[in-house]
Amino acid sequence: MVRLILDSSAGGYPVLIGTNLQRELRNVVTRLDPTGAAIITDTNVRPWAVKAAKAIKRAGLKTAIHAVPAGEHSKTMSQLQHVLSFLERQQIDRGGCVIAVGGGTVGDLAGLAAAMWQRGVRLIAVPTTLLAMVDSSIGGKTGVNGRRSKNAIGTFWQPSAVVSDLAAIETLPAPSYRDAFAEVVKYAVAMDRGLFDLLQRNAPRLADDRDLVMLQRVVFRCVAAKALVVAKDERDRGPRAILNYGHTAGHALEAASGFRISHGRAVAFGMRVAADIAVSMELCSRRVAESQDALLDVFGLPGRPPRADPNRVIAAIALDKKARRGKVAWVMPRRIGHAEIGHAVPGALVRRAVTRALA
Ligand SMILES: NC(=O)c1ccc[n+]([C@@H]2O[C@H](COP(=O)([O-])OP(=O)(O)OC[C@H]3O[C@@H](n4cnc5c(N)ncnc54)[C@H](O)[C@@H]3O)[C@@H](O)[C@H]2O)c1
Ligand SMILES: [Zn+2]
Repeated sequence: MVRLILDSSAGGYPVLIGTNLQRELRNVVTRLDPTGAAIITDTNVRPWAVKAAKAIKRAGLKTAIHAVPAGEHSKTMSQLQHVLSFLERQQIDRGGCVIAVGGGTVGDLAGLAAAMWQRGVRLIAVPTTLLAMVDSSIGGKTGVNGRRSKNAIGTFWQPSAVVSDLAAIETLPAPSYRDAFAEVVKYAVAMDRGLFDLLQRNAPRLADDRDLVMLQRVVFRCVAAKALVVAKDERDRGPRAILNYGHTAGHALEAASGFRISHGRAVAFGMRVAADIAVSMELCSRRVAESQDALLDVFGLPGRPPRADPNRVIAAIALDKKARRGKVAWVMPRRIGHAEIGHAVPGALVRRAVTRALA
């Protein structure tokens, strides 16, 4: 097991990464000493929630489980209402805590509920997807979707601990596992050359074998990379934008495909587009783009070329929610392990790169 202590405005908190961490979860609960605990999970991850409940019981605390229907469509105000009612029934008071056992969907929903209930109770994140371990459980963003807009309703709420039990990865469906590597490659290209080398050297052990020892090293480095920028910019107003690498064209492809293309595949597409543009603008060498794309290939990302109308993707890029006064700010790779935020890109280069990546 490895442990990091992350900084946040609400104080430092531990992130534990390892295999079969029931005892560590029990110790975390003992240390936080809450007056009560309520577990939020989804219908697919219930077995992991039951394990967590047993660990919490061993810490001498009673707990109950509330499972929302699995999937993104549970990130709604109405499910949030159900979660809050559950916390009320469980009589969670200000000294209590919420334990989120699941992927990013459960994490975002339960995190928002924890931030709101009693004006904020403590949150323990127990991520069960690779995406949640490397991305969504870190950084304190919580939220649910609006009727038409993703993550529109939410707040920042930092966890009191994150317990990433890699054993959960063994039951994770293949598409979810594969998609998470888009974010992993993102950290590597934008921030961490060492991670990039590690991925290159061990791609088959990771992509095909789900080698948990190797995964522990990968998750550790991703968390460290994200923690670094989040510590500088907790509220996402500046340097945190580096985490948006691949997301400008990626989000646009998701929207243009009517969200039929998964986030991971879309981000992989977005990184290919961004690196292609960076080569054209002489921001990085062709070798950088080629080695990134080759690594994405090994992880099967984005797989067969996404089917989408280039014009719709280009139109959606212009609507990027991170745009300021109509100017889209691109994150551009300069070399492996180092990207820069805030680049303006001529429309013709965007068109050429998007068209090429969809061909
Ligand atoms: N807060 C943030 O900073 C942040 C960052 C990135 C993504 N997100 C959000 O995260 C969500 C996506 O998260 P996700 O990819 O983890 O998806 P998810 O939570 O919807 O999980 C994907 C599927 O896998 C199932 N599952 C989860 N763990 C499992 C396991 N161990 N074994 C078997 N099945 C399992 C789930 O039930 C679900 O059906 C999106 O809503 C996205 O907006 C948030
Ligand atoms: Zn993403």
